[in-house]
Amino acid sequence: MAVLDQLTSQQAIDLENKYGAHNYHPLPVVLSKGEGVYVWDVEGKKYYDFLSAYSAVNQGHCHPKIVGAMVNQAQTLTLTSRAFYNDMLGKYEKFATEYFGFDKLLPMNTGAEAVETALKICRKWAYEVKGIEENEAQIVVCENNFHGRTTTIISFSNDPVARKNFGPFTDGFIKIEYDNLQALEEALENNDNIAGFMAEPIQGEAGVYVPSEGYLAAAKALCEKHNVLFIADEVQTGIARTGQLLAVNHENVQPDILILGKALSGGAYPVSAVLANDSIMSVIRPGNHGSTFGGNPVAAAVAIAALEVVKEEKLAENAERLGKIFREELAEFAKENELVTLVRGKGLLNAVVINDTEDSSTAWDICMKLRDNGLLAKPTHGNIIRFAPPLVMNEEQLRDCINIIKKTITEFKK
Ligand SMILES: Cc1ncc(COP(=O)(O)O)c(C=O)c1O
Repeated sequence: MAVLDQLTSQQAIDLENKYGAHNYHPLPVVLSKGEGVYVWDVEGKKYYDFLSAYSAVNQGHCHPKIVGAMVNQAQTLTLTSRAFYNDMLGKYEKFATEYFGFDKLLPMNTGAEAVETALKICRKWAYEVKGIEENEAQIVVCENNFHGRTTTIISFSNDPVARKNFGPFTDGFIKIEYDNLQALEEALENNDNIAGFMAEPIQGEAGVYVPSEGYLAAAKALCEKHNVLFIADEVQTGIARTGQLLAVNHENVQPDILILGKALSGGAYPVSAVLANDSIMSVIRPGNHGSTFGGNPVAAAVAIAALEVVKEEKLAENAERLGKIFREELAEFAKENELVTLVRGKGLLNAVVINDTEDSSTAWDICMKLRDNGLLAKPTHGNIIRFAPPLVMNEEQLRDCINIIKKTITEFKK
């Protein structure tokens, strides 16, 4: 077989199995084309994408404006490294900082890198501004978090699959229960060495856990009281996904450090960023941190276009409106179908909890049937199915999808 021959689905799967590391367990579907809310497999079957590459493709697959910006920039200048200036990075930094309301941006590529960056900034701020003794800083994080899979990040993960046999781990993290203000208060009150509190405004990977109303605002206030940085990991919840530009906007919270990734590029290219004000970001000086690709001209052009699309196409408003319809319809359905326990979420980041044990294959089997019926979704943590379509979806398409989901679950037999 020549390298560029058209493959069947089975051939593509066999190749990945044989030559790729087995660090994922994909649903057996092989995609070769995407446009808007749709993707197609190599045999030409069309699907609704209800995962959006874990909320990276909020702007829809192959958005013409984003792809146009990428192609245009790729034909002009792709990479200079930060050894030199390029004529796109400054424009992007100005645009994005004004867009999100911060003084400064530090560009990286992936979500995990941006999380690592935020942790480093927070620690350095703790030593140089807050005055914590060197190597004593601690950062409070939440149980069942998901912030990526680097060695430091898995050091404070609860997930045994992500952690087992990857130690020794990085010190300096304290885990508290998510959505528990008292636990946060206790952690902050009895310890002068706390530098920051990092949380996901909604715990996406854990199964779309939405904290109680007021949690984020109260957590931010507690952080302020104790001179601790509030770090919001909006890699998954950010950029219109939950019905506001940022999920923290639901509670009018401005984090001290904001972490973005995924939809910052509309899924066209790996682009992530950390944003903060001067009083925090100024602790970073030449040589402290960096990445060959971070802030490259293609990333800058793509991110500007991706952020423009979010506002031009009112994606936050659309996510808010369609999300309500989705939850209302599925909550009604849950009353009459014993396989669905509940539906929860915000905007178009939602999950349906399947009425079966954590280790059962029911959610996976339902996703296989959804695939057969033309809709792609994936279980997250056992018996929970996450539903997160591109935000360019219209109401007619959403209602079509709701019908597919209801029909599939109604006809499902274990
Ligand atoms: C909240 C959150 N933070 C960080 C990450 C890691 O991003 P990446 O996979 O781009 O490293 C993810 C990925 O799902 C995420 O959901």
